[in-house]
Amino acid sequence: MRVVITGCAGFIGSHLSERLVGEGWHVTGIDALTSYYDPAEKRANLAGLVNEPRFDFIRADLVSAPLANLLADAPLVVHLAAQPGVRRSFGDGFDQYVHDNILATQRLLEAAAEADCPRVVYASSSSVYGEAAAFPCREESTPTRPRSPYGVTKWTCEKLAEIYRGLGLEAVGLRFFTVYGPRQRPDMAVRRLCETAAGGPAFRLTGDGTQSRDFTYVADAVDATVRALTAAEPARVLNIGGGQEASMNEIVTLLEAIGGEPIALRRGGSQIGDVQRTGADTTLARRQLGWVPTVRLDDGLSATLDWVRDRRAAGVQLVAAAS
Ligand SMILES: NC(=O)c1ccc[n+]([C@@H]2O[C@H](COP(=O)([O-])OP(=O)(O)OC[C@H]3O[C@@H](n4cnc5c(N)ncnc54)[C@H](O)[C@@H]3O)[C@@H](O)[C@H]2O)c1
Repeated sequence: MRVVITGCAGFIGSHLSERLVGEGWHVTGIDALTSYYDPAEKRANLAGLVNEPRFDFIRADLVSAPLANLLADAPLVVHLAAQPGVRRSFGDGFDQYVHDNILATQRLLEAAAEADCPRVVYASSSSVYGEAAAFPCREESTPTRPRSPYGVTKWTCEKLAEIYRGLGLEAVGLRFFTVYGPRQRPDMAVRRLCETAAGGPAFRLTGDGTQSRDFTYVADAVDATVRALTAAEPARVLNIGGGQEASMNEIVTLLEAIGGEPIALRRGGSQIGDVQRTGADTTLARRQLGWVPTVRLDDGLSATLDWVRDRRAAGVQLVAAAS
């Protein structure tokens, strides 16, 4: 079976590509290697795939790529490409979010509908909920009130997907909740904390550290994505949350225990667009996909720290040190 994966060089996309190639799928990966973070890191993410006969890589921007050709044989599609991150979506940065999230998604959905692709599974985000009034968040009853321009672009992707669903395209959105693990993006907190634990400079902890997230290990997020590709008639959107809710203070304590050393922190300030808490009700994903997250938070953090340490041992410069 053939699948097209957009954003294949990114954090989640590279893990997903590896999993599907390993299971015998033919994967065409598309990625623009954007500069949101160092493209060298994205190339490194592809290292295990480039020599795979069942993997083709196309470096292209979805907004200008020849999508009709790429989708001509009506493959399944996983659309992960995006400009991620809440903070940089404020101010002038928003242009890029409109380009990579809204324009790219509309173009991809249009081309997939034209080509009669059987299904497009696309990445939405917990950020569509914003600061929820009650937990856990449920797909159909929790209001979507994004608090950042990034969240608005993800919410817009869901609305675009509904339009193309109305035209017969089976589009399934996965609202990912804080995905972490090896290759996590360098702007994300767990990655930065691991860099600090591996000898990088102090981690800047904003707020009082009680802000909490529903953490999802990357292999669990990938497993949900694979299941969403093949499940019978999944809902239009599904929460994908690991069910491992923890505050930033708790993450620091866990990583200190795993690493065996205190983690240097600089406390203070606040982050525009950040919410106090996220939490997913995953009843729908469990029922419709048969999905159960399996990786415990301490095991997942341990694997992430090991990956950061291995990179450091191999001489790769720590991101926190470079910025
Ligand atoms: N990581 C998380 O915790 C999380 C949480 C919620 C939602 N998501 C969503 O999941 C998806 C994957 O996230 P990630 O953390 O792996 O991000 P990532 O930045 O590592 O991967 C995204 C990839 O998309 C590519 N890309 C961006 N714009 C493109 C374009 N116009 N054309 C082609 N390629 C383009 C980038 O080069 C990058 O490699 C994104 O849609 C993100 O919004 C992630």
